[in-house]
Amino acid sequence: MKIGPYQLGSNVILAPMAGVTDRPFRQLCKHLGAGMAVSEMVSSNSLLWGSAKTKRRADHRGEIEPRSVQIAGADPAMMADAARHNADNGAQIIDINMGCPAKKVCNVMAGSALLKDETLVAGILESVVGAVDVPVTLKIRTGWDKSTRNAERVARIAQESGIQCLAIHGRTRACAYTGEAEYDTIAAVKASVRIPVVANGDVATPEKAKYVLDYTGADAVMIGRAAQGRPWIFREINHFLRTGQRLPEPSAKEVRDILLGHLNNLYAFYGEYTGVRMARKHISWYSKGHAHGAAFRHAVNQVETVADQLDMVRHFFDHLAEEKELAA
Ligand SMILES: Cc1cc2nc3c(=O)[nH]c(=O)nc-3n(C[C@H](O)[C@H](O)[C@H](O)COP(=O)(O)O)c2cc1C
Repeated sequence: MKIGPYQLGSNVILAPMAGVTDRPFRQLCKHLGAGMAVSEMVSSNSLLWGSAKTKRRADHRGEIEPRSVQIAGADPAMMADAARHNADNGAQIIDINMGCPAKKVCNVMAGSALLKDETLVAGILESVVGAVDVPVTLKIRTGWDKSTRNAERVARIAQESGIQCLAIHGRTRACAYTGEAEYDTIAAVKASVRIPVVANGDVATPEKAKYVLDYTGADAVMIGRAAQGRPWIFREINHFLRTGQRLPEPSAKEVRDILLGHLNNLYAFYGEYTGVRMARKHISWYSKGHAHGAAFRHAVNQVETVADQLDMVRHFFDHLAEEKELAA
């Protein structure tokens, strides 16, 4: 799949997730086969651009191309400024968020709330596309609620406004994360536009990725929650799409090494204090489903230093590897 000048190495993409898809996680997923990884959303409110958090979100040093940055907001002129600001700071693709269900975002008429006002949608898209030379992409839900589902109309507005790729999370805002993702709506959108369409929602296995690609006709799939603690899901899906075969699960030793590398990158990116805290949720996700995982999570969440955190993680996965060897 191509977005503007960027030919993606894979049509399996990491979804933007606030608090999760920071540079270390994006880079890891890209190394493990994600064709693209969209950054956490950056507010269009310029008053926030100087904050440490927003500056860190805009830090792309060393990141594998293409670098896609998501922006959110409801004012066309502010969104255009945000797009310019991020393009000037290294974004190669600007992604507009009209999919976020968070109250904090929707209450200011941004994120998925924008889907209720198609005139404003067009205004924002045209304003952002006109403001930057880099490709602009859009992420939406299927509508605000089931009675006002308008993804097909929004998709056509997007195409006419010069949007170069559309990602759709197959749920309305009102559906939050409940129910099955609506792949029929994604298929209808794909059939009604010429721009590339990315299907998103509930893809957690290689088989499901293939099913969703076949069923919707979408050009790519986007993976969110299923990549948490399982960044190798990208290589698993790539392999399955290429060969029809499942790769074996990574060994405990490989998981240990992937996680230790991930942690070291988190510490380097955030520093010790924030790095240790950011690492906790990732460590929990990686340890999910493993024997003694609950006790380990409880213990590892108490430690405050890099040395202790690394030590406990190493010990947990070494022990797991030994148990698996004994059982084999
Ligand atoms: C923790 C978390 C944070 C998210 N943050 C964003 C965000 O900043 N922007 C956005 O467009 N979507 C965001 N999403 C939605 C995801 O990009 C994705 O659309 C959704 O999780 C459905 O995909 P999945 O079923 O593969 O998880 C977030 C989801 C999660 C779980």
